[in-house]
Amino acid sequence: MIKDYEVLISEVELKSRIKTLADEIRKEFKGETVHLVCILKGAIMFYSDLIKELTDMDIIVDFFGTSSYGNGKESTGVKITKDLDENIFGKNVILVEDIVDTGHTLDYISRVLKERNPKRFEICTLLDKYERRVVDVDVKYVGFKIEDKFVVGYGFDDQQRYRHLPYIGVVE
Ligand code: IMP
Ligand code: MG
Repeated sequence: MIKDYEVLISEVELKSRIKTLADEIRKEFKGETVHLVCILKGAIMFYSDLIKELTDMDIIVDFFGTSSYGNGKESTGVKITKDLDENIFGKNVILVEDIVDTGHTLDYISRVLKERNPKRFEICTLLDKYERRVVDVDVKYVGFKIEDKFVVGYGFDDQQRYRHLPYIGVVE
């Protein structure tokens, strides 16, 4: 049963903001090859819309899977479920993530991938739940800063459901 969620960020707002983020990335990495890494599963919608705005760039598509364990709404640890297919030594890498919440996930992934010595390493997140930060992470591109509310849709799940909604909604 699909509930009706209050819309926090509409499809139109998402599209327009993602276009601007793509412009920033294009400006910064003009003429360079970029490994754009989608963090599974939450970033899938954001990722596919973002790469469609970068068709004029030399983009290598890759995926990195993690799952957080904890009680569902709060992460206490991270494990790798899928490693990159490509070697990122000496390459430009941008991680594309759904949200920075406590920061544990991105802190962990960043430490794992930076050990492979990429040339540049940046993070692009659609949402930033800044009030909840526990670990500091250096995020270069942020789509939207949001308050401490639990969101679903556009890749975000509540126990694996609602990822397919085309907008971001709020759970009461
Ligand atoms: P972290 O706390 O920064 O490690 O974030 C862990 C993960 O929690 C994120 O990658 C999301 O998958 C998930 N998460 C955090 N906030 C939300 C939310 O509001 N809705 C759905 N998933 C969330
Ligand atoms: Mg995630």
